[in-house]
Amino acid sequence: MVLHLEKVVPIGRTLDEYVRMFNLTEDDCKKSILSVADGPASFNAEGTQLGYKIKSVDPIYVFNTQQIKKRFYDVIDNIIEQVEKTANNWVWTYHKSPQELKNNREKAMSLFCQDYEQGKKEHRYEIGELPKLEYKNNEYELGLISHFLFLYSAYLDQQFHLDSINEMLRVCQEVRIFPLITLNHKISPYVDFVIQFLNNQGYHCKIEEVSYQLQPQGNQMLKITKLN
Ligand SMILES: C[S@@+](CC[C@H](N)C(=O)[O-])C[C@H]1O[C@@H](n2cnc3c(N)ncnc32)[C@H](O)[C@@H]1O
Repeated sequence: MVLHLEKVVPIGRTLDEYVRMFNLTEDDCKKSILSVADGPASFNAEGTQLGYKIKSVDPIYVFNTQQIKKRFYDVIDNIIEQVEKTANNWVWTYHKSPQELKNNREKAMSLFCQDYEQGKKEHRYEIGELPKLEYKNNEYELGLISHFLFLYSAYLDQQFHLDSINEMLRVCQEVRIFPLITLNHKISPYVDFVIQFLNNQGYHCKIEEVSYQLQPQGNQMLKITKLN
């Protein structure tokens, strides 16, 4: 697939946001982690500094640092303006204001950019896209995916969700998905169906509350584990 950068919004989150979004414990951070749809998050950059073993996958990694950075600065002011205009529709417990939200996004982008080229050489950033991943069965202990599945339910249908989650479960022993809401701040219409489907397949699904939130109702994470 040819990816057009002007269609992508390359916004990433920090390690601290990842730890909170996914309720990551110290033990979790010691696992081999596959972070799918990772974009320009600084989770890999910051985690690698701490000795974590993280592989990030995203179609956006066909682009170089300058291209991703330029696209970020082309869109960020407009996004923050939209958030400022609708400030009452967001939850300001983690980011205390739209300006702080912007600062955190810029921090993530900056740390990502400093690490990206070296990380590509070390195969820590690899080009890939759901619903298919180029990794072996059970190659990773923990699979994470933030702000992609469920969030874009208006554009990605139920079958895409099932195929993508099944694929992540093929490659990872455990999968965590955040958030469970759509861009309209409503719980995704696919959540119940996905849980039912996975339960029937013999997986254990648990919805956990997390200490990260920006969107109303957006403080829940789905944890999927394989039953032995
Ligand atoms: C909103 S960003 C989230 C970035 C990061 N996970 C975070 O929370 O900071 C969504 C990401 O999904 C990526 N993406 C788009 N289509 C994808 C696909 N089919 N498979 C995996 N990632 C995809 C985009 O390139 C983008 O980087």
